[in-house]
Amino acid sequence: MSSYPSINLNNLPQHIAIIMDGNGRWAKGKGKLRVFGHSAGVTPVREASELCAELGVKYLTLYAFSTENWSRPKAEIDALMALLVKTIRKETKTLIENNIRLYAIGDIKSLPLECQEELSEAIEITKHNTRMQLNLALSYGSRWEIVEAIKRAAAAGEDMKNFTAQTLEKYLETAGMPDPELLIRTSGEYRISNFMLWQIAYAEIVILEKLWPDVRKADLIQAIEIYQKRERRFGGVEPVKVVESTK
Ligand code: IPE
Ligand code: IPE
Ligand code: MG
Repeated sequence: MSSYPSINLNNLPQHIAIIMDGNGRWAKGKGKLRVFGHSAGVTPVREASELCAELGVKYLTLYAFSTENWSRPKAEIDALMALLVKTIRKETKTLIENNIRLYAIGDIKSLPLECQEELSEAIEITKHNTRMQLNLALSYGSRWEIVEAIKRAAAAGEDMKNFTAQTLEKYLETAGMPDPELLIRTSGEYRISNFMLWQIAYAEIVILEKLWPDVRKADLIQAIEIYQKRERRFGGVEPVKVVESTK
């Protein structure tokens, strides 16, 4: 039996995407520097990955750094990049033990060299893992991604006059992955902030009030429960039924 009885395993999102927001406010509330909030944001990253892997979610995408986040003070960016390197170094072993594949989406070449190296090493070591794929969205922005996809398609010699949605999808950072069915944003903010604009066309959006460093498995379970109560109609009239597995 599942350790999470409130969740219907026959109606799980295959792909969950999370806008992890509120680290700075969390730190401010404690009279600390914003960077302290980013460090505290590592625990919920671990909790989210563990929960999704345990449930059988196939893809988890975490928005960690946006193309717009480059406009932040240099000290904060440097601290975030250092935290990224440290966290990947520390957590790779756990990813291997849990059969989780690490992947990165975004303008990875714009990251500091040390981050790129640490990332590609962890991505390489975990590339044959099959239980779940953990995507880190780093220097990621949807507008960048879509423009880039069009350029890649043109460079690959695609027929631009007969361009289709399927052609574009082949060149997105998320090529080959299912679209997220559930998008979670924390910290009570009701916006998308340039995240997966193409892929979330029909995602269910759940906003959690908690700031990211306070988020634990129970909060994510609550978000999945909300998702499971939603009627998804995809532009039609009738809700699309969940296909019950025969297991
Ligand atoms: C999210 O927390 C983490 C990143 C964007 C890197 P913020 O740093 O945006 O925290 P708030 O939203 O200012 O509280
Ligand atoms: C979105 O959060 C980006 C990430 C979580 C990485 P921001 O805090 O950067 O977004 P805005 O500025 O509130 O829209
Ligand atoms: Mg924010």
